[in-house]
Amino acid sequence: MCTQSEQCLQPLQNPDLSEQIKEVTKESHVRAENTELMLSFQRGQVTLPQYKLLLCSLYEIYQVLEEEMDRNSNHPAVAPIYFPAELARIKSIEKDLEYFYGPDWREKIVVPAATQRYSHRLRQIGKENPEFLVAHAYTRYLGDLSGGQVLGRIAQKSMGLKSGEGLSFFAFPGVSSPNLFKQLYRSRMNSVELTAEERNGVLEEAVRAFEFNIQVFDGLQKMLSVAGNRQRQSSTDSNAVHGKTLQIPG
Ligand code: HEM
Repeated sequence: MCTQSEQCLQPLQNPDLSEQIKEVTKESHVRAENTELMLSFQRGQVTLPQYKLLLCSLYEIYQVLEEEMDRNSNHPAVAPIYFPAELARIKSIEKDLEYFYGPDWREKIVVPAATQRYSHRLRQIGKENPEFLVAHAYTRYLGDLSGGQVLGRIAQKSMGLKSGEGLSFFAFPGVSSPNLFKQLYRSRMNSVELTAEERNGVLEEAVRAFEFNIQVFDGLQKMLSVAGNRQRQSSTDSNAVHGKTLQIPG
């Protein structure tokens, strides 16, 4: 029997994976919400260049995530949380990319190094530790079905898009109630049988999954600011070549 003070320090014996994963990623979720890109969304200030670049990264991430989920769909830790009809995002992202970049979007997409590191990790765990896929699927899909729903509506207004145009990513036509679906998803996560070691691995991987997302957001924000600086620099240079000085109002 534990004393009262010991009990406070002991983790619960067999808490649900869905509860544990939410708990261990709580702090990471706050950090993700507070990245510059996510703040732009929440303030209704997301721009077309930001959103287009985000879509490119999402394409890379979901392509690998969904390929690895498909390949491991019979794995005992993947099968219970395998919902391609309800959740798969890749076709929606392709539609959005075509809307924004045109039919030759495949030649135009840009993927920051941080996104490549994320997809590389997804590929690796798909091969070596498929049970960790639950951590990544949770992080992306439950996020998309939670805050993502609000972000979609904000993005539409911020960029002045017509209803649904270029925003298929946010729509889940196969999920009639996101809340009920999340409940089902959590119960399926809780049914996955994992050894203590595997469970710890999944929890660590979930924190890592959030970290990858944060780095992707920061990476593409940096890409945008470098592009912006270059543009400003080249317009200064071309003004200098023509013997003019750039007038900055105010
Ligand atoms: C859940 C907001 C960004 C992953 C939620 C919930 C809200 C929310 C309101 C619902 C909480 C609940 O039902 O108990 C936001 C906002 C964001 C944001 C406003 C940014 C502007 C992110 C990002 C990720 C993420 C970037 C991961 C890449 C998740 C996950 C859940 C969640 C996995 C499910 C938590 C659970 O029920 O276990 N978010 N979120 N969120 N979010 Fe976010």
